[in-house]
Amino acid sequence: MTSEQECYVYIVPPGETEFVTAGRFQISQISQGGSVGKFIYGRTYRERENAVELDPVELRLQTGEFETALMDGFFGAIRDAMPDSWGRKVIERHFKAAQLPEMDYLMRAPDDRAGALGFGRNQEPPHPENRFNRTLDLERLQSAADALIADDPDLAGSAGQQVEDLLLMGGTAMGGARPKVVVEDDNALWLAKFSRADDSWNHPRTEHALLELARSCGLNAIDSKLTTVAGRDVLLVRRFDRDRTESGAYRRHRMVSALTLLRTDDDATVRRNWSYLMLADEIRRVSECPEEDLRDLFGRMCFNAAVSNLDDHPRNHAVLAKDKNWQLSPAYDLTPGPVISQERRDLAMDCGTGGRIANKANIMSGCGRFLLSSEDAQEIFNTITTTVKNEWHPAMRRAGVSEQDCERIARAFSYEGLFYE
Ligand SMILES: Nc1ncnc2c1ncn2[C@@H]1O[C@H](COP(=O)(O)OP(=O)(O)OP(=O)(O)O)[C@@H](O)[C@H]1O
Ligand SMILES: [Mg+2]
Repeated sequence: MTSEQECYVYIVPPGETEFVTAGRFQISQISQGGSVGKFIYGRTYRERENAVELDPVELRLQTGEFETALMDGFFGAIRDAMPDSWGRKVIERHFKAAQLPEMDYLMRAPDDRAGALGFGRNQEPPHPENRFNRTLDLERLQSAADALIADDPDLAGSAGQQVEDLLLMGGTAMGGARPKVVVEDDNALWLAKFSRADDSWNHPRTEHALLELARSCGLNAIDSKLTTVAGRDVLLVRRFDRDRTESGAYRRHRMVSALTLLRTDDDATVRRNWSYLMLADEIRRVSECPEEDLRDLFGRMCFNAAVSNLDDHPRNHAVLAKDKNWQLSPAYDLTPGPVISQERRDLAMDCGTGGRIANKANIMSGCGRFLLSSEDAQEIFNTITTTVKNEWHPAMRRAGVSEQDCERIARAFSYEGLFYE
């Protein structure tokens, strides 16, 4: 295979720790501009007993070629395995390029990407490298991230080139905009999220507190812990798409974002299909436990409204498959939005039949789509908003958020307009 525009797609099947080749992906330029993507599953793969689909919407396990002209030909499941704004920045910096062809971002990311997929030019898949930065490396990685944000190589200190290599080895493939790297401790893989010099409050501690608060509200939120590196706080979020086996290898779970389930893009100016209600419809169709997942999703929507997590875009929701079946992933990336308006706040996605308005009337309006009676929905809303109101401050303080920072973010919690009926 010589074309720069083709690659093999590998997958770690459920219960295994090594890649197998699942199929072939190709991007072709079209004369009208833009490009078209094609994907085909390999026959040997399809005939495996534990063959699974790449995603539950676009690339179902079947014969024949799939084709898409959406998103420049990058199928949702493939786009979800690509680096996002932070990872792109690292790659561009490493290759000293302002921008690279899309296929390069896919191929150049290290082997720590979200989900169970891998990509390469050889039909034979590589062995997973299982080479990760250790939590001990966090200090150097944090300096490297600072240097990258400030575009000042001197901030990386004496680590220099080594830092760049480290970043490239485990700091690019995961999505999101905030500086982050993947690190390993003795038990698991973690997503380490750093602070930025221009943060208005302590992000690692507040995010940790919100994940704990979400759990106090009965929601399934991912485990996290805090660590301090060179005097600065770093949040460690346990990766839910990897499980370590006794031999130290990792099982990889497939993962696709709500962008993919909703067949949409993350350009906020388009916002086509950015909707919790439509997401509920999709989850009802693909999940092995729809009632449980939809109750949790409804609760997350209430929680996001109650803490003004207005950055709850579809990349911040995902479904996960640990075996053949899909389920809603644990909640992640929860951030308070201390905006001024007491009247009206909008979530990033439609949360009721009246659009994005985060208030009780609108949130209740779509409860049937989550398979909830209005009594059940009211109870979830009331329990969550009461818990948030009473518990946000103690939760912040327990996580070591300063009183000054609590004042900075206080406006985020249980704003007046939330209770409009
Ligand atoms: N615990 C986790 N396990 C596996 N994947 C995760 C986990 N947390 C986040 N991810 C993946 O990593 C991506 C980036 O993480 P996250 O959303 O926390 O970062 P962020 O930079 O704060 O994002 P944003 O750009 O939305 O602010 C997510 O979109 C998701 O695909
Ligand atoms: Mg995010």
